Amino acid sequence: VHPQTTDTLPGVPVVDITSVGPGGTPIQQAMALMREHGPVFVRRLYGRDTLFVGDLDLVAELADEQRFAKHVGPGLENVREFAADGLFTAYNDEPNWAKAHDILMPAFALGSMRTYHPVMLKVARRLIDSWDRDARAGRPVNVPDDMTRMTLDTIGLAGFGYDFGSFERPEPHPFVESMVRCLEWSMTRLARVPGRDYSAADAAFRTDSAHLAQVVDDVIAARTGTDQSAADDLLGLMLSAEHPADGATLDTANIRNQVITFLIAGHETTSGAMSFALYHLAKHPTALQLVRREVDELWGERADPEPTYDEVGKLTYTRQVLNEALRLWPTAAVFSRQAREDTLLGGRVPLRAGQAALVLTPMLHRQPVWGDNPELFDPSRFTPQAEQARSVHAFKPFGTGERACIGRQFALHEATMLLAMLVHRYRLNDHADYRLTVKETITLKPEGFTLTLTPRTTAD
Ligand code: HEM
Repeated sequence: VHPQTTDTLPGVPVVDITSVGPGGTPIQQAMALMREHGPVFVRRLYGRDTLFVGDLDLVAELADEQRFAKHVGPGLENVREFAADGLFTAYNDEPNWAKAHDILMPAFALGSMRTYHPVMLKVARRLIDSWDRDARAGRPVNVPDDMTRMTLDTIGLAGFGYDFGSFERPEPHPFVESMVRCLEWSMTRLARVPGRDYSAADAAFRTDSAHLAQVVDDVIAARTGTDQSAADDLLGLMLSAEHPADGATLDTANIRNQVITFLIAGHETTSGAMSFALYHLAKHPTALQLVRREVDELWGERADPEPTYDEVGKLTYTRQVLNEALRLWPTAAVFSRQAREDTLLGGRVPLRAGQAALVLTPMLHRQPVWGDNPELFDPSRFTPQAEQARSVHAFKPFGTGERACIGRQFALHEATMLLAMLVHRYRLNDHADYRLTVKETITLKPEGFTLTLTPRTTAD
């Protein structure tokens, strides 16, 4: 466990939030504090200090793998209580990190998405069948709830050959409910008032994390005894693949941690990203029109197009929409870095070896490099020319370096295809004149965002 104490840093404002606490939306609170105090500040809560950074030059330094590495801070320590040494929460020097990373990397290379494509398409059709029923009945759809159904079923089937059947359930799958409560526990545990009794919350957490483990054991049991070599999905790899260097395999406890990790990391963030993208499209007719033009060029008036793997690669504007949605609301909104040696950040902020800085990605994504109206949703920020002209460190929704998101291509393929299919099929009616409320459960979502749908006719 890495203790986290920060001496007051010269020239860095310290904001003590103890009297108000971080509330239910700590990310948005930190964003407000950064707007007020500038792109580097220390947040103090009950004497515990956290250094927040949004400044582009400083983030570029923090991304230097020679000087900095991933930090498993207090938030991730809490997630470790139920994901242990899974990839996302493993310490850098924990042997199981490198082992699992090397074994699983090939399964996430861009080419591997061809393998997952048919499953992604099958689950996209489940969502469309459900939305067709809602459209016929004139019922609004709850966008984040349905996106979560779709991403959970996708990672379950594509990763582990396990069907959560989320669209056959009126309520979220119990796994999701337990998972959301575990994530909320991890977040609110950071805000505990010293001396208060939290034993009831902790007992509820233990019940939920036991439930996660139980579901995962079912997922694994459904596979043992079958011929693993035939399965080229994540679980097949984990159960059978040997490390390229020394032939070692993953142990049972670690496989369980990886399955929990992938089920969580593989669906919450992606569903939030798609929900925000649909929110922006519902509010920006010009961008929506451009997505329509792109999908109509590919699929014309076909009622049920059968998107191919290669076609998804051609959806460049749709991909820009997703990137722009992830710029404004990166759904995993912070990542933490630690100094490898004593160092001066930006030549002025002294950090001791092991000391952490938390990158506040939504504010990095609103720095001056993004122009003078960073709040404006504008997918043209992600044309290849615009991207080339900008520092690679200006956009970090998937984190950085060797601990960056392993599932990035998976998420982008899944989300781009689904967005395109939805825009091709429906008119999105912002029937409730939705006002954005961002819900935080470690990840971000547009809470209570609903749409009504009308099938598109050829003319619109
Ligand atoms: C790591 C974001 C989708 C699996 C990360 C990190 C970020 C991130 C910021 C780095 C965290 C850190 O530095 O502490 C996202 C976003 C996604 C997404 C925004 C969707 C839009 C996925 C998917 C999967 C996945 C679909 C799996 C199928 C992981 C794993 C790690 C990770 C396993 C840990 C990697 C390691 O440390 O070796 N993700 N992610 N993510 N992500 Fe994602």
